[in-house]
Amino acid sequence: MSLTQTLALPTIRQSFTIDYDYQVAFTRGLFQLDNPTFLEVLRTDGTQGPRKLLFLVDDGVSSAHPHLSEQIRAYCAAHPDVLELRGRPVILPGGEQCKNDFSHVETVLMHIEQQKIDRHAYVIAIGGGAILDMVGFAAAIAHRGVRLVRVPTTVLAQNDSGVGVKNSVNFFKKKNFLGTFAPAVAVLNDANFLGTLEDRDWRAGIAEAIKVALIRDANFFDWIEDHTVALNQRDLPTMEQLIHRCAEHHMEHIATEGDPFEKGSSRPLDFGHWAAHKLEQLTDYSVRHGEAVAMGIVLDVAYSHFSGRLSAGAMERIISGVRKLGFALSHPALYNPAGTGLRAEIWDGLEEFREHLGGELTIMLLDRVGHGVEVHSMDRELLDQSLLSLPRP
Ligand SMILES: NC(=O)c1ccc[n+]([C@@H]2O[C@H](COP(=O)([O-])OP(=O)(O)OC[C@H]3O[C@@H](n4cnc5c(N)ncnc54)[C@H](O)[C@@H]3O)[C@@H](O)[C@H]2O)c1
Ligand SMILES: [Zn+2]
Repeated sequence: MSLTQTLALPTIRQSFTIDYDYQVAFTRGLFQLDNPTFLEVLRTDGTQGPRKLLFLVDDGVSSAHPHLSEQIRAYCAAHPDVLELRGRPVILPGGEQCKNDFSHVETVLMHIEQQKIDRHAYVIAIGGGAILDMVGFAAAIAHRGVRLVRVPTTVLAQNDSGVGVKNSVNFFKKKNFLGTFAPAVAVLNDANFLGTLEDRDWRAGIAEAIKVALIRDANFFDWIEDHTVALNQRDLPTMEQLIHRCAEHHMEHIATEGDPFEKGSSRPLDFGHWAAHKLEQLTDYSVRHGEAVAMGIVLDVAYSHFSGRLSAGAMERIISGVRKLGFALSHPALYNPAGTGLRAEIWDGLEEFREHLGGELTIMLLDRVGHGVEVHSMDRELLDQSLLSLPRP
């Protein structure tokens, strides 16, 4: 038999599924000694003996909550049969900078290695969406994936980014270029963290709630409108309800819509996001993700109207709702130098958005409040018209 002839060996096929099961719990005072939430998550993980724990904390959180490290130490010391704290909690710079500089991933990996965190041990990430994305990425690639518990500390991380299954860092100056789909063991939302947020971070996460309400839940949009004053006055119970409803939608989408790891081209939860991601990058991330999403939503709402899908009344209602919550409706970086339409780089963001997903361009628009429709192309002139219809920044 010659080297190019093959034996008639049959192809071997296999197919398997992996079940994911995780909880998003809501509490206050997660590391107070009498709070069982954290302990119970670990106690019921099927592992025997003390679980090794490495904590990584956003510096914005550690400076606003100076007793957190000591609280964590005392909590672990009170339950030595289950919890084994490895080293001191590691403080890392919070905000988008931690996703822009790969050395932070290396730092997390180094601590994982030094503290002997294996696949039965835990990385616990405490912080905003950026830290959770970056630490989650490091945890997913160390030993091909160590256990992760997320403790989100911003509104946006508690209602959206932290409850999902993705992690990432920015690379080649592209947002979320590196990342994996890797669900956490649990997401533990402690509302007490929200009290120390800057006003802009308290508000930014509301954009994701508006997003989910507009594409799938008209009653929730009514609710947000009715609670605008309470939200603007930083009423914590109102915010806890908003976060719970939004997280519920997010989880339901992941669990029931058949594409948790986004293999297809459709991404309804990215309504308003194509322009937002580009705007974040063009402003060097001085515009927060949620702030950019609010502007992206307003642009796509105007486009939904000018492309004949959404009524003028619905458009005006949505834009007025977004404004009353204190969001800026547009930003100078969205405009071309002559101010006559969309900046070229924002338009190019549409193709970058497609490339990130792969497959056919799929953009969510609205045909009414609470109902999204997908389209596969956008018209540049209509986009210019939509932008120019908005109040100038
Ligand atoms: N993985 C996903 O599916 C997903 C989804 C949406 C957004 N994201 C990502 O989330 C990130 C945005 O997250 P974010 O809006 O939480 O902002 P962020 O993580 O950038 O945090 C904003 C600021 O708040 C500080 N901070 C955090 N918690 C605090 C607290 N309790 N008190 C005081 N200060 C605190 C941080 O130090 C930071 O300076 C972006 O990188 C975005 O791409 C990821
Ligand atoms: Zn988002």
